[in-house]
Amino acid sequence: MKNIAILGSTGSIGTNTLRVIHSRPRDFRVIALSSYSNMHLLARQIKLFQPKIISVSDEHCIKKLRQLVNLSGIKVYTQDKGLEFIAKHKQVQTLVVATAGIVSLLPTIRAIEHGKTIALANKEPLVMAGDILMKIVRKNKGRIIPVDSEHSAIFQCLHNEQKESFRRIYLTGTGGPFHNYAKKDLKKVNLKMALNHPKWKMGKKITIDSATLMNKGLELIEARWLFDVRPEMIEIVIHPEALIHSMVEFCDRSILAQLGVTDMRLPIQYALDYPLRCANKLKSPDFFGLKSVTFFKPDLNKFPCLAIAKKAAILGGSAGCVMNAANEIAVEAFLKEEISFLEIPDVISRVLEKHKFVKHPNLDKIFSLDKWARREAGLLCYQL
Ligand SMILES: NC(=O)c1ccc[n+]([C@@H]2O[C@H](COP(=O)([O-])OP(=O)(O)OC[C@H]3O[C@@H](n4cnc5c(N)ncnc54)[C@H](OP(=O)(O)O)[C@@H]3O)[C@@H](O)[C@H]2O)c1
Repeated sequence: MKNIAILGSTGSIGTNTLRVIHSRPRDFRVIALSSYSNMHLLARQIKLFQPKIISVSDEHCIKKLRQLVNLSGIKVYTQDKGLEFIAKHKQVQTLVVATAGIVSLLPTIRAIEHGKTIALANKEPLVMAGDILMKIVRKNKGRIIPVDSEHSAIFQCLHNEQKESFRRIYLTGTGGPFHNYAKKDLKKVNLKMALNHPKWKMGKKITIDSATLMNKGLELIEARWLFDVRPEMIEIVIHPEALIHSMVEFCDRSILAQLGVTDMRLPIQYALDYPLRCANKLKSPDFFGLKSVTFFKPDLNKFPCLAIAKKAAILGGSAGCVMNAANEIAVEAFLKEEISFLEIPDVISRVLEKHKFVKHPNLDKIFSLDKWARREAGLLCYQL
């Protein structure tokens, strides 16, 4: 029996994690859940999984939650204290980090320092502070098991391999809903079109990032830190059928790939069970039903967000943090229909150009640059 805590239990990854746990009540016990503002869903999760600890955004949410569910016997926190309390709690063995944005960076660090296994879905902590985070992992002999499907695939391909023997990572992606669009047609993209991902059902922010290909850029930076490789060793491959979730090439030119259905429960379960593999009721891929299996180079001219992210990956230092913050604000503004699809990369580039690059930022600098970049991006989005 493994004791699990989930930060971001009401999101897309969080609810899929709870579906895995629900299907295996003898193997997993929920110790703690955190959500931001969705108290109705959290109340249902509390009834079903009976956690010992809960964290929500503020007192107002606690009040609302008390009207929906009996909280006696449960420790209830607001998130200024709650996320770290959960991350350090002695009963927690695996912490699933499934919040959106940067809020889980410090709790993730605390969990590593307290010897927890991290099942990491949330990519922003690595994009913002990958260098710092991975140094803390190495110092504490910590363990991060990736949940992002591509990184889970790479992790599985690298299992039991010598680090010196791999020469290249092929990070695959579907290309999003606009893979077949001509550049000029991207002018016509509206919110509904961008939210219509061809293969994966995910939260809104990551769905827009998948449409701009920024998600691949964020994943490139995530992979660079997780697997300790130079960004130049990571090749992005557009593979619309999404059969292969990523591949690794070794020095003898052998390539290992991980394949499976497009269902996040697969990488989530792998991370929860690691180092074991356990049976489940997911389907196998239908090889004979596939009309074709195709691979394309990404078009950086059509998708400038990916070009920006590649450059930020190579620059390192503060570039990832500033890019991520500007992207979050630009995507938020696009979701509110304040800016157009093509204005998203404009906002990010302008904030990156304006920022004073720092080669080795510490955590305080990361947080202050994040704040600065959000403000700058906000000014651009709402005054464009
Ligand atoms: N979705 C996927 O398939 C997928 C795949 C790979 C990686 N990821 C990564 O996993 C992370 C989560 O993605 P998602 O799609 O599951 O996001 P999501 O559906 O938007 O869920 C986000 C979760 O975080 C909580 N949250 C939001 N803002 C918060 C804040 N300021 N403080 C504390 N909690 C907050 C939300 O609570 P409320 O519901 O109460 O607002 C919700 O529980 C992202 O970093 C994403 O890039 C996602």
